[in-house]
Amino acid sequence: MDKFLIHGGVPLHGEVAISGAKNSALPALAACLLTEEPVLLHRIPRVLDVLTMEKLLRSIGARTETKGGVLRVEARQILSPEAPYQLVKTMRASSLVLGPLVARARRARVSLPGGCAIGARPINLHLAGLEQLGARMRQEHGYIEAEAAHGLRGACFAFDRVSVTGTEDLMMAAVLARGETVLENAAREPEVKDLADLLLQMGARIEGAGTSTMRIQGVERLYGAEHRIIPDRIETGTFLIAGAITGGEVLVTGCAPEHLTALTAKLRQAGAEVTEAGPDALRIRSSGALHAVDLITEEYPGFATDLQAQFMALMTQAEGLSLITETIFENRFMHALELARMGAAIRLEGRRATVMGPSRLTGAAVLASDLRASASLVLAGLVASGETLIDRVYHIDRGYESIESKLSALGARIQRVR
Ligand code: UD1
Repeated sequence: MDKFLIHGGVPLHGEVAISGAKNSALPALAACLLTEEPVLLHRIPRVLDVLTMEKLLRSIGARTETKGGVLRVEARQILSPEAPYQLVKTMRASSLVLGPLVARARRARVSLPGGCAIGARPINLHLAGLEQLGARMRQEHGYIEAEAAHGLRGACFAFDRVSVTGTEDLMMAAVLARGETVLENAAREPEVKDLADLLLQMGARIEGAGTSTMRIQGVERLYGAEHRIIPDRIETGTFLIAGAITGGEVLVTGCAPEHLTALTAKLRQAGAEVTEAGPDALRIRSSGALHAVDLITEEYPGFATDLQAQFMALMTQAEGLSLITETIFENRFMHALELARMGAAIRLEGRRATVMGPSRLTGAAVLASDLRASASLVLAGLVASGETLIDRVYHIDRGYESIESKLSALGARIQRVR
C-alpha cells in the first residue's frame, strides 16, 4: 500500500494549477446515463473516485474514452441498471446513478452504501424523493430496488435536511419525469449548479439551481452535450492552507475565488494575506505568525466540512484557542487524534474540537482515515520537524490529482513510497 514520506519545514513558494472538481465530475458522469447520445466532459480530474465511477458506468453499459484530456461517455444502451456492492462500498457517491437509471431505464438496483468512516451517511432522502416521484422502492439483500414501470411523474419534495448528492440525484430523476418537480431546501453548492448547467445543455428545463428552491419541467428526452467541469474548490482551499501553514507564498491558478469566500475570510482573520490575482487566481502569503479563529462548518455558502480537517491542521500553528464545530457529519474528527500524535493539543467533545496552539509538531507515523483527514495530515507533515510517514494514502488519491507532484513543484519534500 502506498505511503507518503514528508520531510517538513520548507515554506512553499510558486504556482499551482487546480484540477476539475471531483464532486462535479461524479454527478456529471452519472448524468451521461440520461441520454443515448455522447457527452464530452472537459477538465475531469484523474482521481480514484472518478475512475470508480467510470467503471460503474461501463458495468451499466456505457462506453467511456479519454482523448486529449476530454472524457467521452456514450450510454447508447442501459444493459444492467445496477450499482454492485463492490463499487458502492469504495465510493458512496455511486448512489448518484439511482436517479438517472430510474428515469431512463425505469428501474435500478443499487447497493446500500453501509457505514463509512465519517459517520452513518444514509441515503434515505434520495429514496424518499424518488418515491415521491412515483418510483416503487424495495429493499432486499442489501440492495435498493427502484421501479417506475410507467415512468416518473413530477412532484414536490422538501428535503428534511440539505443533501448535496440527494439534490443531484433527484434533479437527474426529475429532468425526464412527466410534468413539474419542485425541490425545496435543495443544496446550493456550486457543484449542484454545475450539474444543472450540464443538464440544461443536454436539453433539460431547470430553474433556480444554486438557490434552495428548484423547479424542473420534465422533458421527453435529453441529448448529447459538451461541458467543462468547475475547478475543485476543496483542492484550491487545501493549497491555500498549505501556503499559510508553511509561511510561504503560493499562487493558486485556474480556480474559482467566488466559491471560497468562507475560507478566504477565515484565512484573513487568522492573519494570512489572501488576494485575488485575476478572475481565476488567488495568492496567499503568510509570515507564519497566525492567530486562532473559530469555525463552524455549514452548507454552502458556509464553511465547507470538506475543509474542516485541513483548517484544524492550520490552527495547530495559530496562537490561542480555536473552537471548531462540525455540524454536517458526525464522527469527522479522526484526524484530530493523529494530529495529536504529532504534538498538537486538541480537546474533543462531541461535535466540537478545541485546538490550543501553537504547537511544535514533530514528524510521526500516522494513518489516513478518510479523504480530507489525510489532506490535513499532509499539511501537518509539511510543517512538522523531521519525517512524517502517512499510511493508506489511497484515501487521498480518491480526491486529489497528483497532490505529491503539485506540492513538490512548490518546494515541498514529499515522496510516494511503497
Ligand atoms: C457531498 C460531498 C462531500 C461533502 C458533503 C457535504 C459529493 C460526491 N460528496 O456528500 O464531499 O462532504 O456533500 O458537503 O458531492 N443525509 C441524510 N440522508 C440522506 C443524505 C444525507 O441524513 O439521504 C445527511 C448526511 O448523513 C450528512 C448530511 O445529510 O450528515 C449531509 O450529507 P450530504 O450533503 O448528502 O453529503 P453527500 O452528498 O454524501
